[in-house]
Amino acid sequence: MAVQSFPIPPSTSGKAPRWTQPVSFYGQSVFSKYYAQSICVFLLLIPFLISPVAAQGQGAIGGQDCVTNYNPADNVDYFPSKITVDNAALFKVRYANNYKVVTNTAGKKDFVLYQCGTTAPPASEFANGTIFVPVPVKMAASLTTTSVAFIEMLGRRSALKVVDTEGLVSSPCVQLGLEKGEIVGLEDNNKTLRAEQFKAVEIVFGSGFSVENGTESKTVGTSEVSDPGPLNRAEWLEFYSTFFNLEESAQKLTASINNNYNCFKSAANAKATKPLVAWSSYVAPSSYNNNTATWTLSPAEYKKILTVDAGATFYNGTTKGTFTNSAEFLAAIKDVDIIIDETFSGSDMTAFYASYGLTNADTANYKFLANKAVFRQDGLVNPNDGRDWFGGAVAMADAALQDIVRATHPEALPKDIKYNWLRNIAMDEPKQLLNSANCPATDSSTPVPDRAITCSTMKVDEGKGNAANKAIAGSALTAFVGLLASALVF
Ligand SMILES: *[C@@H]1O[C@H](CO)[C@@H](O)[C@H](O)[C@H]1NC(C)=O
Ligand SMILES: *[C@@H]1O[C@H](CO)[C@@H](O)[C@H](O)[C@H]1NC(C)=O
Ligand SMILES: *[C@@H]1O[C@H](CO)[C@@H](O)[C@H](O)[C@H]1NC(C)=O
Ligand SMILES: *[C@@H]1O[C@H](CO)[C@@H](O)[C@H](O)[C@H]1NC(C)=O
Ligand SMILES: *[C@@H]1O[C@H](CO)[C@@H](O)[C@H](O)[C@H]1NC(C)=O
Repeated sequence: MAVQSFPIPPSTSGKAPRWTQPVSFYGQSVFSKYYAQSICVFLLLIPFLISPVAAQGQGAIGGQDCVTNYNPADNVDYFPSKITVDNAALFKVRYANNYKVVTNTAGKKDFVLYQCGTTAPPASEFANGTIFVPVPVKMAASLTTTSVAFIEMLGRRSALKVVDTEGLVSSPCVQLGLEKGEIVGLEDNNKTLRAEQFKAVEIVFGSGFSVENGTESKTVGTSEVSDPGPLNRAEWLEFYSTFFNLEESAQKLTASINNNYNCFKSAANAKATKPLVAWSSYVAPSSYNNNTATWTLSPAEYKKILTVDAGATFYNGTTKGTFTNSAEFLAAIKDVDIIIDETFSGSDMTAFYASYGLTNADTANYKFLANKAVFRQDGLVNPNDGRDWFGGAVAMADAALQDIVRATHPEALPKDIKYNWLRNIAMDEPKQLLNSANCPATDSSTPVPDRAITCSTMKVDEGKGNAANKAIAGSALTAFVGLLASALVF
């Protein structure tokens, strides 16, 4: 880390410094290395690192410590870094001096997060069922693998104590934590043990609004996967950040994701052609579908937006999107240039041909076969085929778009760019395994980095020999690396 990226202390003008994370946010290993390089700068800054407010016994403002001498009459704003919701449609945040009200608007559910050590506002001022949580939260359970990805990008893996569907978690470090027993899988059979696991955590990040008996006062329903667009979904990083007082980092992270996303979007949409893309799947006959085989063209909004933003045309069928007749389905998709196959099982072209009712003789009749363009979302999986697409790709909208652009306009990206989640089975691209051996650091506070490349500085090979290497110019994104670097310090 460059010495220059150490934060300049804010003007103290009678007020406390406004940083919201302690300098140890990124963990001892990062900081000891850093301090070794910049000990002089550190010594100069010591007076600023000791917060005058902490010295008065009120605890770090907006920080990770609890307030020790709370007096409402002091009128201290404990949350100087505030979330501004830009893209997300399904949550909002309102701030008071010592608490914030975070609302999941999809379920009209309020969470009152008050700085620990201060007094929670009276419950009578809020709707029945409002949940009160002292923050920052130190111990959480996650019922979805999606929440795990968001928490890890914020660098708060250390708060994750219990995870459900642990066999499907793709995160290497959570897999390692499970192996070491630092994180436990939610018990499914022994009700006593399950209740004890819930009791030991402060909050339970759940999916939607189902609440298990005994967890009514601590379940936080999240709706990132219902928020319609990719950037809406990524902005839930800010929702999660409110529980950890990490608003400032989260805002920087989502700003960099947005900028990088928009840069990929411009690069892909500068191309003249618009390939036709369908996200399709096959479901075998079973009791769930009246014993009738079904083929579906997904109309999901975020897939449509990702497709259009990748410089392509979204295809969800002309008159209908769900088919029970193979021939009718195949007729509907024959002119599709690129298939994103979402069929749950089957991982190669043999399985794809079988589930779609295709034969080798069909190659010339279907554009996606002739183009060798059949992608699956299982490019990053854990040893049980637990897909990171449902976690990392939700939070890392820019990296998700990068993967789609690789399918629609590879000429807009650097030559031979690697894939994350979307692998082309028509080109025999293999799954990439994520297991505990891939956990890079033992430090549980290291944020999981975004998988996207930096679009604004990428060298694009437009396939015109070696004369065509050029960087995308003029983007607002030149600060992207700098932002990440400063996020590491803040
Ligand atoms: C809230 O719950 C209490 C008791 O459970 C009940 O008496 C009261 O009427 C409820 N208030 C509202 C607004 O639903
Ligand atoms: C269930 O869990 C409780 C609490 O950990 C434990 O005491 C009990 O022995 C367990 N029951 C069984 C059948 O394993
Ligand atoms: C939840 O608890 C109530 C009363 O304690 C009980 O009637 C209900 O069956 C329980 N629900 C579940 C799903 O266990
Ligand atoms: C299920 O299949 C049966 C027999 O083909 C049909 O009569 C019935 O309407 C179907 N039900 C649904 C919900 O599609
Ligand atoms: C395709 O999606 C659009 C909305 O994006 C919807 O209005 C239309 O009905 C869908 N078509 C089919 C066949 O489902």
